[in-house]
Amino acid sequence: MFTATGVNETDLKAKSRKVVRRAGKQVLLIAAQDKLFAIANRCPHEGYPLSEGTEGPGCVLTCNWHNWKFDLASGRALVGRDPVRTYPVEIRAGEIFVDLSDLPAEVQRKRALDGLVAAMRYNDAPRMAREVARLERAGFDASLALTHALGALNERLEFGTTHAHGAASDWLTLAERAPSDAERLAAMIEPLSHLAWDTVGARRYPYAEDVTSWNANGFLAAVEAENETAAIALLRGALRDGVSYSEIYAALGRAALAHYADFGHSAIYTRKTAQLIDHLGPDAALPVLLALVRSLVNGTREERLPEFRFYDKARAGWNGEGDLPARAEDFIGLSIDAALARALQSSRRPPRELYDALLGAAAWNLLHFDLSFDSATDKQIADNVSWLDFTHALTFANAARHICAEQPDLWPNALLQLALFVGRNKGYVSAQQDVGAFVIADRATFIAHHMAGLYDHGIVEPIIACHRLKMLFALEDELSAAPDAPWADVMCAAMNRYLNTPQKRHHGLRLATQAQDFIAREG
Ligand code: FES
Repeated sequence: MFTATGVNETDLKAKSRKVVRRAGKQVLLIAAQDKLFAIANRCPHEGYPLSEGTEGPGCVLTCNWHNWKFDLASGRALVGRDPVRTYPVEIRAGEIFVDLSDLPAEVQRKRALDGLVAAMRYNDAPRMAREVARLERAGFDASLALTHALGALNERLEFGTTHAHGAASDWLTLAERAPSDAERLAAMIEPLSHLAWDTVGARRYPYAEDVTSWNANGFLAAVEAENETAAIALLRGALRDGVSYSEIYAALGRAALAHYADFGHSAIYTRKTAQLIDHLGPDAALPVLLALVRSLVNGTREERLPEFRFYDKARAGWNGEGDLPARAEDFIGLSIDAALARALQSSRRPPRELYDALLGAAAWNLLHFDLSFDSATDKQIADNVSWLDFTHALTFANAARHICAEQPDLWPNALLQLALFVGRNKGYVSAQQDVGAFVIADRATFIAHHMAGLYDHGIVEPIIACHRLKMLFALEDELSAAPDAPWADVMCAAMNRYLNTPQKRHHGLRLATQAQDFIAREG
């Protein structure tokens, strides 16, 4: 509906521009090259007044604050990113009328989602935030932005699922718990920023389009054979034929735990993918499952590395006859092979007992991480160890416990892989340090405090913030399942140390030293 502006056409042509306020909007009327234009006066970049801008040839207006340039007819940003809103103009008896009606919701939705994807291609976080806010203002749920982005950028993921997916469901939960609208939006934007970080500059890696009727064993064989095309075809068949998510998740969990895959990431991603689909609904299922299958197919089978090779023998030797009670103390300080052998001695014990023992040892390792390895510049690449080598024992355990709750026959795989974490990290701890200061008196307050800090974490790299988030949610979930677990105090203290110790994120000297060493031996 057109609204009178009270501005005469002749007057405007004489003055060239005028700002009017109607229906809560600031509208800039501009006469340029014998044409009249009406646009939003607030620059879509940071809101400064376009009425102060400079008009150039071809009906282009430059915002003088950061030099964005707008085509007055279409609103398109010729330099810069977001377009400016334009309004239809009519002249009635010499007076200028403008149509300030909101665009149809579907048009706003499409513009916001297109703008979001464009912003993500440049990893432009401020524009991502603006587009999600525009989507919400048009009446849509912000989670639609994530569903859309996961689909739009899925082919940019060369190896499928990343921690952007792995943390997304926890960010959504954090958003649900947000005490304010701004904090909710901040949490919603995190997985978008992370996905943008992981895909910026990437070329397309399309997924195969073949579709084959679902067959769980065939799917497992395809993943085992690292045949992405066949595995994807079976997944597409499962979704086409309405196979239940629980059946699909069962096969995915089995594939994830078939190996010590990507140091446990496959299990973590599998669990988190299921949670993400729960949050976002079936529209997100295809892209996130495609990405997950790709990551499972491409996952490194770490047990093929020399230090982990006893895993296969241990798995084959798991006969359910070992009846030795298990405690964390039994595993602390054991090598990889010794930890596997010790686990076999408890193969008949309830899985929960061995799980608590191994998780307790993993917590002790985290609490006693020797920080000299974090800062070292003179060690071999194999000794490039960081906090994340320790934190994944907890997030893996949490994911594996849920997978095994549905498929108990996978417990031996999960427990022996947890033993690999424990044994592997044993070489990077120091028992000779005072950790008493990290004891937590009030677990719930501790977790709530650190979760609240994530709305404004101030960390540049998404991967660091997302691990803090995932650790807190894993801890919360584990404590909820077993508040009296024997590892609870040690794990909370370990988490406290992890969250309150600065992490060295750039290793320039280490990089140079190891490069020189490598080249000298290259021959
Ligand atoms: S506010 Fe207009 S270009 Fe930045």
